[in-house]
Parts: sequence; C-alpha cells; structure tokens
Amino acid sequence: MAKPPPPKLVQIADKARNGLRFLERKLAPPEIGLLGFVSDLWGFQIVYALAELRVVDALKAGPRAADDVAKEVGADADHLYRLLRASTHFDIVREEPNRCFSLLPLGAALCDVENESLRDFIILQGRVGWRFWGRLTDAVREGRSAIEIETGKKPFEYLLGDENVRHTFNRAMTAISSVAAEAFVAAYDLSGFGKIVDVGGGQGRLLSAMLQQAPSATGVLFDLPEVVTEAPPVLESLGTRSRIEVVGGSFFDSVPAGGDLYVMKAIIHDWHDPEALKILESVRRAASPSSKVVLYETVVTPPNDKHFAKLLDIEMIVHAGGRERTRDEYAELFRKSGFRLERVLPTAGPASVIEALPA
Ligand SMILES: C[S@@+](CC[C@H](N)C(=O)[O-])C[C@H]1O[C@@H](n2cnc3c(N)ncnc32)[C@H](O)[C@@H]1O
Repeated sequence: MAKPPPPKLVQIADKARNGLRFLERKLAPPEIGLLGFVSDLWGFQIVYALAELRVVDALKAGPRAADDVAKEVGADADHLYRLLRASTHFDIVREEPNRCFSLLPLGAALCDVENESLRDFIILQGRVGWRFWGRLTDAVREGRSAIEIETGKKPFEYLLGDENVRHTFNRAMTAISSVAAEAFVAAYDLSGFGKIVDVGGGQGRLLSAMLQQAPSATGVLFDLPEVVTEAPPVLESLGTRSRIEVVGGSFFDSVPAGGDLYVMKAIIHDWHDPEALKILESVRRAASPSSKVVLYETVVTPPNDKHFAKLLDIEMIVHAGGRERTRDEYAELFRKSGFRLERVLPTAGPASVIEALPA
C-alpha cells in the first residue's frame, strides 16, 4: 500500500475537491445534480460486481479481452463487456482496442489481497450492508438502527451471530483497518510504549501495524471470543503472532489490565453515550495513572463543513446504532469516565487520533 501523504496536503486536496463539486452543482441545473446521486448508487453496484466476480483479479497480469475474462470468471460475455465499459466511467479500468481492458490504480486496489485489500469492505457493503441501507428511511422515522428494524436483532448480535456474516464482517474490518493503520502509525508516535492493548481490536490488523512500528512493544488483542478465535491466522500472516496475547471477553465487563496504551479504533462510535461510557469506564478501571488512551474515530466538524464524519454517522444509524461525535462530545465522554482529553491529531485519512489521560 502507498505511504499516506501528510494530513495537511490531504486537507487541501479535500477543500479543492469540495470547491469543484460546489461549483459544478451551482453551474448545472439542480435536476442534473440529483441525477448524480443515482449514478453514485449504480457506481457502487458496478464496483461490487467487479469485486464479487473477481473481474479485476483476472486483469492483474495485463490487458485482456472481455470475452476471455468472461470465460475465466464464469460470466455472460456481453454483460461482462458492458460492465467493464461502464466501469471506465469511474476510472477503474481503461478500454483498450479490440474490447480489451487494463486496470487503473482504483481497479488494482480492488483486487483480492489477503488481509490488505479494500475489496473485503466492498464485499461487506454489497452482501450485507446494501440491504440495511434500503431501510434508512424507516431508521430515521423510528430512531432505531436499520439492522434492528430489518432483522429484529441488536446490530452486533446480527453481525457476529451468523458464521457467514461474521466472517464477511471480520474480513471487512481487517480490510478497512489495513488502510487506516498506515495513517495511524504515521500520525501517532508509539515510542516509549511497552504494552499496547487494542480494545475491540477485531483480528489485530491495526495492532500488528503498531507493533511493526514499535519493535520493542508487545500487544494484547481484546475482542469478543467469537471474533478473536479467527485472529491467529491473520496475526501469523502479518508476522506478529508471537508478540500478541489474544484475549476474548466483553468490554462491558472488563478489559485487560496493565496497558501503557489502550487503543480503540471504531469502537466508541458504535454505541450511544450510556454504552460508550460503560466501555470507557472498563478501560479506566484497567488503566494505570500513567496509561494513555487513544480513540481512532472521525470527528464531526462545524455546521456546513463537509466532512466524511457526517456520512459515517449515517452508516452508524444503519448498521451499528451508534453515532459520530464532535470534539466536545468526546471531551465530555472522557470527563464522565475519569479521563481528560489531551489532544486530537489529524491523520491522512478521515479519522483522527483522540488522546486522553486518566484525570
Ligand atoms: C467496528 S468494529 C472495529 C474493529 C477494529 N477495531 C477495527 O477497526 O478494525 C467493532 C468491534 O467491536 C467488537 N465488539 C462488539 N461488541 C463487543 C464487546 N461487547 N466486547 C468486545 N468487543 C466487542 C466487534 O467484535 C468488532 O470487532
């Protein structure tokens, strides 16, 4: 994966992109602007089909004719040609002479690479998430998560209950963490930490990246028992198995003691304040006076500032049933659970590192 650019550069590029989009929406008739949302929706399904059918993987070795690819992946030749042609619209592939296609960087990033590729996150959204996004209207009406409305189960009860869904979910979290881990270790100095505890650490992708950055540190990977049982092969493949203790349990009961650093990536945003406080209180009980705690979450920015946090917040309505928060809201959660917010560090991605110390 490419090294993340400096956060300042990403912020400038973001501002430029938002400015261009604003201009485009101002100049075009509003109806054209609305049509853009429909093509965004189609675009996702095109990308999902490319990933599910492994079409991009078939193009990895170089340009190939659509008919050839169709044979290899077991698809209808005409439909597959049209799928590839449509995906040129999104800069995923490039059409070459004689109905051949070659991969562009976005297409290459969609290929299946064990524990590394964002493909697994696209697969989760296509196989599982899509169904629940279709219930957003009901979720907004009723004030419940779309998963709860659709399945009658609590979000994690559903996501981790069925073996297939759990597997897809765990792989997707590892995939998204693989992207986010690079940005985290570039933004947060890990020197000086002996023991790092990743609370709700999934299969240990972020923790592994942290240990690779801090060669003398050891790690504790803590998550629900049904999740951490799938972690050891992932840790083996990342070369960190011998430095990580794997512990199963619920953060509503307790978390492992003795950490110099407690990390929680995409944990607090899964929950409303009462549960979020319980998790932070468990961490507070386990932490020593010199421990540090970092959350790795998006931070909601002021009104009208365009930020990914405000979109991810809707994903929380749909899936987890939690919420994204402002800096002040995080400070308040920390205050109530016996910590004090120390600083918020931007990263090259949309999430920030939110650091707190015991109060
Ligand atoms: C959004 S995922 C984030 C996973 C990981 N931190 C990452 O970013 O890839 C939320 C994690 O919380 C874990 N989780 C949910 N309920 C839990 C509980 N009661 N105790 C411990 N972990 C829990 C899930 O299993 C899942 O791995």
